[in-house]
Amino acid sequence: MRRGVVIFLLVNFLILSFLVRSVSTLLSLLIEDASADSIHRAELPSPNSSLIEQRPQIIPKIIHQTYKNETIPEVWKDAQRSCIELHPDYEYILWTNEKAREFIAHEYPWFLDTFDGYKFPIQRADSIRYFVLAHYGGTYIDLDDGCNRRLDPLLAYPAWVRRTAPTGISNDAMGSVPQHPFFLRVIELLQSYDRSWLLPYITVMYSTGPLFLSVIWKEYMHERITEAGRVRILMQDEYNRYSWSFFTHHVGNSWHGSDARLIFWMGQHWVFLTLLGCILAATVGFAAWWMYGRLMLLGSKYRYRYSKIPSFLSGSRRSSPTRRPRGVMPTLLRRVSFKEDEEIRGATETSYELYSRRD
Ligand SMILES: *[C@@H]1O[C@H](CO)[C@@H](O)[C@H](O)[C@H]1NC(C)=O
Ligand SMILES: *[C@@H]1O[C@H](CO)[C@@H](O)[C@H](O)[C@H]1NC(C)=O
Repeated sequence: MRRGVVIFLLVNFLILSFLVRSVSTLLSLLIEDASADSIHRAELPSPNSSLIEQRPQIIPKIIHQTYKNETIPEVWKDAQRSCIELHPDYEYILWTNEKAREFIAHEYPWFLDTFDGYKFPIQRADSIRYFVLAHYGGTYIDLDDGCNRRLDPLLAYPAWVRRTAPTGISNDAMGSVPQHPFFLRVIELLQSYDRSWLLPYITVMYSTGPLFLSVIWKEYMHERITEAGRVRILMQDEYNRYSWSFFTHHVGNSWHGSDARLIFWMGQHWVFLTLLGCILAATVGFAAWWMYGRLMLLGSKYRYRYSKIPSFLSGSRRSSPTRRPRGVMPTLLRRVSFKEDEEIRGATETSYELYSRRD
């Protein structure tokens, strides 16, 4: 095989393994079914079961919700009311923008710059829920999730999040005791994930949203965790599918605006999106390969023409970069022959070398 081909494949392999390494958590998320930590339906008492009373209730009876101000839009009023009316004995806290900022400034001043610096309001709405759960404990519920039954049975677990299809976890309904190690980890890592990813949707998903939470969760699971540190997973059926499920989800009523619908769509379809990404990468790889081939062909044509110039006109060394006409070939790739006097015989006997851009 030609040396150029070997170098080309090697470089591609290195780039590919670097990419795979850096997204390995994402890839492993694709095959994570969360079965090790799922809350089994057999252990969950039915809505009016006497068993509920016998279970411990370690998560504080607090319901947290967020909205920019106190004026809840009509579309979510029913959902909000359903949760409040089912839980008269729970404390209810609505985290408005103002209240959320005050809370961060007072309790987590080290995070305030990041919090204020978030480009999208939804990033603040995402991050505040992790902080209040880490701080007060309780149950966070998105405004577009209505309550279908009391949350009491879920108070038995140190922490729970809900599963999303086809993989990963969501941040729209979560419960936790105060100072749970998982949510402490989450708030600790928020700053290091505060990066821009070109597309607003990916930026939001991966800096504060469900993708961020899923990645932290996946890495957190690897560690040997005590029972108190476990994060239990509420599966789809128990979440909102049946009359005995905990929530009713008002699909399409995203309070984050039209942007978020795409984010949710992406969250739900990211296996597809990952596949699409792989196909795109393969296409780009193939295009690069094709370009490389074209350049080489061009190079050898040029070389062939150039070599016909008598040596007394072209100077002593034909491959001298100063002698090449401009624009015929990028300086990045320059053909060098094994033996100068054999070079016209064809490309099979020649090799190519990659030169640095400085050349
Ligand atoms: C549970 O009890 C309440 C009243 O105590 C009732 O309104 C509700 O329908 C019951 N739910 C089920 C599933 O039986
Ligand atoms: C909340 O915001 C909406 C629009 O963004 C506004 O119409 C409403 O008056 C605000 N409510 C309060 C209590 O400030």
